[in-house]
Amino acid sequence: MLVLSNARLFLENLIKYGILVDPIQVVSLFLKDPYSWPSLCLIIAANVFVVVALALERRLAAGSLSEGAGAALHTLNLLAILCFPAGVVLVVTSITPVGAVFTLAIYTIVFLKLFSFRDVNKWCRERREVKTAPPAPEDSLAPAKKANGDVGRNEVTYPANLTYRNLYYFLFAPTLCYELNFPRSPRVRKRFLLRRLFEMLFFIQLLVGLIQQWMVPTIQNSMKPFRDMDYSRIIERLLKLAVPNHLIWLIFFYWFFHSCLNVVAEVMQFGDREFYRDWWNSESVTYFWQNWNIPVHKWCLRHFYKPMLKRGASKWAAQTAVFLASAFFHEYLLSVPLKMLRPWAFMGMAAQIPLAWFVSKFLRGNYGNAAVWMSLIIGQPIAVLMYVHDYYVLNYEGNQ
Ligand SMILES: CC(C)(COP(=O)(O)OP(=O)(O)OC[C@H]1O[C@@H](n2cnc3c(N)ncnc32)[C@H](O)[C@@H]1OP(=O)(O)O)[C@@H](O)C(=O)NCCC(=O)NCCS
Repeated sequence: MLVLSNARLFLENLIKYGILVDPIQVVSLFLKDPYSWPSLCLIIAANVFVVVALALERRLAAGSLSEGAGAALHTLNLLAILCFPAGVVLVVTSITPVGAVFTLAIYTIVFLKLFSFRDVNKWCRERREVKTAPPAPEDSLAPAKKANGDVGRNEVTYPANLTYRNLYYFLFAPTLCYELNFPRSPRVRKRFLLRRLFEMLFFIQLLVGLIQQWMVPTIQNSMKPFRDMDYSRIIERLLKLAVPNHLIWLIFFYWFFHSCLNVVAEVMQFGDREFYRDWWNSESVTYFWQNWNIPVHKWCLRHFYKPMLKRGASKWAAQTAVFLASAFFHEYLLSVPLKMLRPWAFMGMAAQIPLAWFVSKFLRGNYGNAAVWMSLIIGQPIAVLMYVHDYYVLNYEGNQ
């Protein structure tokens, strides 16, 4: 039934719109002017913040900078990582929204990584000072785990880790949590790498094709019902958009978390391949967030959630704080590139807290699982339509 109904939809789409897939249009999403590459320049500029973070850590390790001054300078550096690209995106007109999302996502990753780098080095200094060291705040300080065929290379100890080589390995590695010694795989498996590379190229083309052929016309057709506030039509459009949106999201998940991250990990002989767990079996919203994006979840636990619990915050307060921080980053990645402050992404993430409470209290087993899937299938197209509608009204309607 699924194959038949989707084949019909696919054919209907082709008959109605013809072939809309256009690879050249994809380039124009990233570049307005072929002689101006603001996104690339911004990404290269991110290295300045990396160099500053390493210089600060070296001084802290040598004792030529006090802990207080180090913390203040690190905070300034981290704030600049978020504010500088946002300022440039808001001011420079030649940057496209898609290029800006991509750039801000890279800056957000650098922010999370340097935050982790700073925390781990601080824990190392604390441990160095206390002769009878208590167990490290996290297993990160212990020798690298013998995981995934670890070959037991020479291990680095603090402060010998404060080198460009060590830091840049971490910056390119598919993890957000710094360790002095990462688990490493013994060799690059060529067949595995080629399979993942093939998937990467195939699925990115499929994603672009589906967006151009299926998502864009459906979204364009949704603008009129939104303008007229025709509720039954809005719901019909929403349900129509939910199908391609969900398919694209599932393909994106596989493409990014399985194909891309494994390609990077294989090339870097990075041993920890736990990028996702079985989120599709989630019977609660909390289980979903613990399992769908493991790099982000591990960072949240290690650098935000557990430190808050240790400082005496309640579990509820710590969870709420993590979701609000996550909501802030989702909003940052959308509102700044689109140059319009709308709270939809923030509200979507913040709504996870009451949703988690509701599902855990009233729904069990398969009902809980269905609730998680429904929230994914319906929640995302609502957010997509909200943003596109507001962007359309702001940028095109006024001009007509
Ligand atoms: C908020 C969040 C971190 C909570 O995670 P959780 O796994 O539900 O939290 P739990 O309360 O079950 O505890 C997790 C850990 O904290 C430990 N812990 C719990 N209470 C503790 C306490 N009082 N003191 C110390 N540790 C404690 C647990 O033992 C557990 O440790 P483990 O991971 O080593 O087993 C998680 O929901 C999350 O990552 N949310 C955000 C996800 C997100 O925004 N992703 C964006 C993707 S695009």
